[in-house]
Amino acid sequence: MATTDNGTQQPTAEPTVGISNGTDASGAGMLLELVAVSVRYGAVVALNRASLGVQRGELVAVMGPNGAGKSTVLKAIMGLAPVVGGTVYLRQEPLSVATHEIVQEGIAFVPQGRRVFTHLTIEENLEMGCLHLNDKAEQAQRMDAVMELFPILHRKRRDLASQMSGGQQQMLAIGRGLMAGPEVLLLDEPTLGLAPIVVKEVFEKISEINERLKTTIFVVEHNIKSVLDIADRAYVLDKGRVAHDGTPASVRQSNILTDVFLGRIDAG
Ligand SMILES: Nc1ncnc2c1ncn2[C@@H]1O[C@H](COP(=O)(O)OP(=O)(O)OP(=O)(O)O)[C@@H](O)[C@H]1O
Ligand SMILES: [Mg+2]
Repeated sequence: MATTDNGTQQPTAEPTVGISNGTDASGAGMLLELVAVSVRYGAVVALNRASLGVQRGELVAVMGPNGAGKSTVLKAIMGLAPVVGGTVYLRQEPLSVATHEIVQEGIAFVPQGRRVFTHLTIEENLEMGCLHLNDKAEQAQRMDAVMELFPILHRKRRDLASQMSGGQQQMLAIGRGLMAGPEVLLLDEPTLGLAPIVVKEVFEKISEINERLKTTIFVVEHNIKSVLDIADRAYVLDKGRVAHDGTPASVRQSNILTDVFLGRIDAG
């Protein structure tokens, strides 16, 4: 990765061995888009000229086996991955701000592993989601909206996050992301390790955030059947490449998931 003085990532000038340096123009007028993005960690190519994105208002799923590069897609957007080629566009402009400024651009990231501040209360955790906001009235309004979406957070608002179940902590992590008032919400494995009944509830909430609150959503999920039920479109990643891009129906009708999960596709 080439990093500028202000910490932003720039595609490297020289082509990297084994990876073409992406110069493709932004194509489909997406709200948020990766165009031919390559990421490598030392010898490991985590993304190889991957192009994927989300249109305004869409709920888009990213699926694929372990190590396919799913989390890296979200980290590349957030400036948290060593991008060696290609470009991330937000509203058709290259996204070139530092990670801590991305939230002000309208992107909120809920990483894998429901990271909440366990020693803080629910309310305090939610406040952490909009530290950049000085408008107290707006902050209170957002808190009300999040608590309306997740009534359990309202009931437990003065409890420590450590006292909550895994599912409740996941809802808190999503709620904290929403406190930023994002146009796009990035979710990495929101249902990982949750009981089936809670998984169902989390998917319902994600769908509601997209449909009622009109938030664009880019979600990485291993729970394929459930995420295909709520997604507008889905990408299947395999070894850092986009193996399929289409509607949920196109994914279900193709053999792509079995091929990818059983390792039937050549690395190429
Ligand atoms: N910080 C890192 N250092 C070295 N290699 C890394 C790092 N992060 C990811 N990788 C490697 O990059 C590849 C893609 O990782 P990534 O986490 O994006 O996969 P994933 O599809 O999210 O997998 P999972 O389903 O296990 O979460 C993997 O081979 C992984 O081992
Ligand atoms: Mg991952």
